[in-house]
Formats: sequence, structure tokens, C-alpha cells
Amino acid sequence: MKNTLSSLLKDIKEKGNYRRIRYVRPVSGATIIHNGKEYLNLCSNSYLSLHFHPAIREAAIAAVEAYGTGTCSSRSVSGSIDLYKGLEQSIARYKGYKRGLIFPTGYMANIGIISTIPGKGDVIFSDELNHSSLIDAMRLSHAKKIIFRHRDPDDLERKLKKYSSPGGNLFVITESIFSMDGDVAPLREIEGLKRKYGFYTIVDDAHGTAVFGRQGSGVEEFCGLKGKADIHMATFGKALGSIGAFVLSDAVVIEYLVNRARTFMYTTALPPAALGAAQGALGLVANDLSYKDQLWRNIDYMRSRLTRAGFDLKDSVGPIIPIVVGKDSDAVKMQSMIMKDGFFLQAIRPPTVPSGTSRLRLTVVRDFTQEQMDGAIYAIVAAGKKMKLI
Ligand SMILES: Cc1ncc(COP(=O)(O)O)c(C=O)c1O
Repeated sequence: MKNTLSSLLKDIKEKGNYRRIRYVRPVSGATIIHNGKEYLNLCSNSYLSLHFHPAIREAAIAAVEAYGTGTCSSRSVSGSIDLYKGLEQSIARYKGYKRGLIFPTGYMANIGIISTIPGKGDVIFSDELNHSSLIDAMRLSHAKKIIFRHRDPDDLERKLKKYSSPGGNLFVITESIFSMDGDVAPLREIEGLKRKYGFYTIVDDAHGTAVFGRQGSGVEEFCGLKGKADIHMATFGKALGSIGAFVLSDAVVIEYLVNRARTFMYTTALPPAALGAAQGALGLVANDLSYKDQLWRNIDYMRSRLTRAGFDLKDSVGPIIPIVVGKDSDAVKMQSMIMKDGFFLQAIRPPTVPSGTSRLRLTVVRDFTQEQMDGAIYAIVAAGKKMKLI
């Protein structure tokens, strides 16, 4: 077995696709120390920089002081401390849904929803670039799986016509804003098709929550569809600066998940610190839009400078900025050039993105100063020229 693994690892290395864990220590909302050197973090999903915000850290500490360090039990047994109830109610209200249910991670929430609700005889239609947690979840479902072209409602409709089977339920699954491409799903068109074909929507708003929409509740609000998905899922682990995820829907769906979702039933519940931090973050962003507004000023600044320099940012909008390089090894080369200048980022390669589209996935966060952004743009442009991308 070990010989086989070694030879597979050698292949991965030769393709420029080898991953190493890089240890870091955050020192501010936007910077980290790695191997003794300070970097501006250009790949954080903490878009609002809340993971380092004093009020959120205090909220986590207060939860530990009141409730201890761990729940030490699954939610079905004795892990559902009362912090869960308040947070489930607040997040459901914020996003326009009737009921909420917290899971330990987004990965587990997606596995919980999709392996439990669509079943034999049902058909799932899934965007081809959906996140790996959605893909793995579909692998565990007994429903038939049909992939439609990325953000293509016409292809979805063709496939709905072709594969809808009488008697079964139909489900359409999409990310709201795609994690590696930063582009927005055609939620309005999907909603139109829903009226025609009667399917159920499952929307993953992991990267839209607290970032998109006038009130910041997410991409559904941005598209005028707040609270409209049949099942909505998102996480506390990105803009909300903590960890954990939630599923929003009506009472029947939530009660069914409580009774049948194995990733809810058979795992230890999130610790009090995570719940306290998430509640603190939600309280902050729901009452003060300046966090989101500052982030969008930074997003506009970075995007306009990179576009002006000649980068093709594809259809991305918002804090996720893909710079597609192509070959795995070229993406790694460009990443190392930028890292040398003090900017931390990751080359994203298959299987996370399709082969031949390896990229740098930059992210913009609220705590970036203009000086930091100017430095990052300078380094990215210099590397982009060396790689002949611009
Ligand atoms: C779109 C999407 N869905 C789900 C997840 C999983 O969330 P978590 O990291 O909380 O497991 C992620 C994050 O990695 C994601 O990007």
C-alpha cells in the first residue's frame, strides 16, 4: 500500500499538483506570520475580517466563560446548549426563513441535506462547478444525478425536459456565488424554471452571506429572492469569522433533518466559543452596514486596478477574484513570485478546479488598507507580466 501511495504522490509532484500544509499565525484581520515572515493574506475567506475583531473575540471568550470549552456530545444527545436556539433563530430571521438548524461545518450540512432528503426515484440537477461538499453529498444520495452547464439555465431546462421522471421529486442544487470563480448563479432564471417544472431548490450561500445584498444577508437578497430557496445553506466560517454552518427552511424540512441527517445526529456539537463568536458577528453585521460597505470599497478598488492592468477577471463579482493561469506548475510559479514579495496566497489546482484552469484565487477583505492593496496589485501585475498573462 505504501509503495503505491509513494508512487501516486510522485506523480502528483511531477504534475506540479503537490500540496503542503503551510502553518500560519494571524496577527491582524489581514496579515499572518508564516515561517517567521509577515504576509498580507490574499486568500482569506474572512471577508469582513471578523475573526480578529475585538468584539467577536470577546463574544467567544464570554461564551467559554459561561458554558465551558466543549459540548462533548452530539446535538441529539446533550450537546444542544441553549446558545444554539438563539443563534438558529437569529440566522433564520436575518436571511428570511422560518427555521434554522446548525451543523458543525458546511461540508457536513451539505452531506446532511443531500444524502437525507433527495432519495431513490428523485432526480438532482447540479451545476457543474458546484463545491466538492455538494458533489460528495450527491455521491451519497440514492437520487439520480444530472449535471448542467455552469450558470446555464437553458442547459438546465433542456435537462429538466429530458430527465424529469414522473412520480419522483426534482431538486436543483447550486452555489449562489461560486467559491473558485466568484461568479453569481442565475438564481432568478432558476426561480422562473421552478415555477414551470416544480422542482425544489437547494442553494449554498457559503460565500455570499454577510457580503451580498443591501442588508448583507446574501446573494438571494442581492437577486431579490430573499428567503425563497426551498433549502438554503451557508456557513459561519467565512465572512462571519467563526466555524459552523446552518440549514434554513421550514419546520418539516428542519424536523426531518433533526431526525434523519447522520451528520447532525452522529457527531459532537460545535463548542460554545464558535457559537458565541457567530452570534457576536451576526449581531454586528445585522446592525451596522459599514462593515460590508468598507469591504465593497476594497473590492471595487482591487477589481478596478487589476482590470485596468489587463487581467481577465472572467464573470467574477465580489471578494473572490480568480486569475486563471492554466497549467498547474505555472500557477505555482506565479504564486511563488507573489509570495516572495510578502503576499500569501495559494495556487488552486485540480481536483478543486477543472484541469487546465489552475489559478490564483485572490480574496479581498475589509481590513486591507489602501497601501496594502497597492503593494499587492504591484506584485500581482509584475508576476502577471512575467507569466505573460497581461
Ligand atoms: C461553497 C461552499 N460550500 C460549502 C463549504 C464547506 O463549508 P465548511 O468549510 O464550513 O465545511 C465551502 C467551504 O469550503 C464552500 O466554499
